[in-house]
Amino acid sequence: MGDIDPLYHPELWALDPSMLHLNHGSFGAVPRPVLEEQRLWRGRMEGNPVKFFRRELQGALDEARLALCAFLGADPDGAAFVLNTTSGTNAVFASFPLAAGDEVLITDHIYGAVRFGLTRTAERAAARLVEVPIPLDADDDFVVDALLAAVTERTRLAVVDHISSASVKLFPVERLVPALQERGVAVLVDAAHAPGSLAVDLGALRPDFWTGNFHKWPSAPRGTAMLYVAPRWRGLMRSYPVAWREYEGFPHTFTHTATADQTAWLAAPAAVEFFEDFGWKAVRERNARLVAFGQATVAEAIGADLAGMPDAALPMRLVPLDGFRGSPAEAEALRDRIADLHGIETVINVWSGRPLLRLSAQLYNTGAEYAALGAALRSELEL
Ligand SMILES: Cc1ncc(COP(=O)(O)O)c(C=O)c1O
Repeated sequence: MGDIDPLYHPELWALDPSMLHLNHGSFGAVPRPVLEEQRLWRGRMEGNPVKFFRRELQGALDEARLALCAFLGADPDGAAFVLNTTSGTNAVFASFPLAAGDEVLITDHIYGAVRFGLTRTAERAAARLVEVPIPLDADDDFVVDALLAAVTERTRLAVVDHISSASVKLFPVERLVPALQERGVAVLVDAAHAPGSLAVDLGALRPDFWTGNFHKWPSAPRGTAMLYVAPRWRGLMRSYPVAWREYEGFPHTFTHTATADQTAWLAAPAAVEFFEDFGWKAVRERNARLVAFGQATVAEAIGADLAGMPDAALPMRLVPLDGFRGSPAEAEALRDRIADLHGIETVINVWSGRPLLRLSAQLYNTGAEYAALGAALRSELEL
C-alpha cells in the first residue's frame, strides 16, 4: 500500500486503541458520528417516551426504512427491518409453505445458525435438506451447474449465500436466482455480508427472499438488518412477535415490534451516509485492496500457500493455516491467544476440515497491522 491513504481514519471509530481490530466481518464496529446519531435518538426517546413512541417512532422508522431501501435498490413495499440476518432467514423459514417430501437446496458453505434454523423447519414439515458440495475454488459455471443438477420436481426453495462466512466465497447470485426461479425454485439469498461490501441492486437481482446486515459492512449500530420479500410471497410473511400492526401486512408487521429500543434502526441511514461522504465505491475498492495486501503479507510471514483461495474484490480474505492440525475448539483457542497475548482480534474458522484465518479491512485498518498478525502467528505456530 502507498504511503498516503486518504481513507485511513481510525480517529472516527471508538475502538480500543490498545488492540488491532482485524475482524470487522464478524460483528462490525460503529463509527463515532453514527454512535452520536443513535445517542440523539435515545435522547428524544428518553426526553418524552410517550411522545416518542406514540407520535414520532412509526414515521421515523418509515423514513429510515426508505433510506435503506434506496441504498439497496429495493421496492419499499417489499423490505422490512429485522434485527439481523439470522432473524431474516428465520422469518422466511417460519413463513414459507413447505410440505412433507419437499426439498430445500443448500450448499456446504451455509452459515451454521442458518442451517440450524432451516433444519428445524424441515424437520417440522418432514421436508428434506439437499446439500450440494461446492469446492472453495469452484468457478461460477461449476456453482450454477452443481445447484441446477440438484433440482428435482420436489425442490421448492434454495438458500444461497451471496458471500459465505467461513469460506468468503462470492456466489454468482445474479445467475443463480433467475436459473433456479425458471425451474420453479424460490431463492432465499443470505446476503449477510453483501450490503456495503458489494453494490446491491435488489430491483435487478429480483430474489424471492433476501436478507442482509447493516451492522457489518455499513457499520450501523448492531441489531440492524433488512429482509426483502418478492411481491408473490409478501402475503405469507408472518412476524414474531405478533403486534399491533398485524393486519397491515408486510413490511409493517415487521417494523412494529411492540415496545423496544429501535434507535439502531433510526441511526442506520447515518451509517450509510458516513461512507457516502468518502464515496462507497472508493471505500469498497480501498478495503478490497488493503485486505488483499494483508492476505499476501500474512501468507508470506507464515509460508501459507494461497492457491485456490477466493480472490474476489471483497473486504475479507482467507489465509489457510494448513500446518495447524487443530480441531475447531483448538482453532478458537489459537484465535483467543492471538487476542490475549498479542493484542490482535481476528477469526479462525474450520471449513470442510480446513482451518482458515479470515482477515477483514475497514477504514480503521492499515497495512502494518497485517504484518503484526503475521508475526503473532509465526510465534504461536512456532514457525
Ligand atoms: C453468511 C452469513 N449468514 C448469516 C450470518 C448471521 O448474521 P447475524 O449474526 O447478524 O444474524 C452471518 C454472520 O456472520 C453470515 O456470515
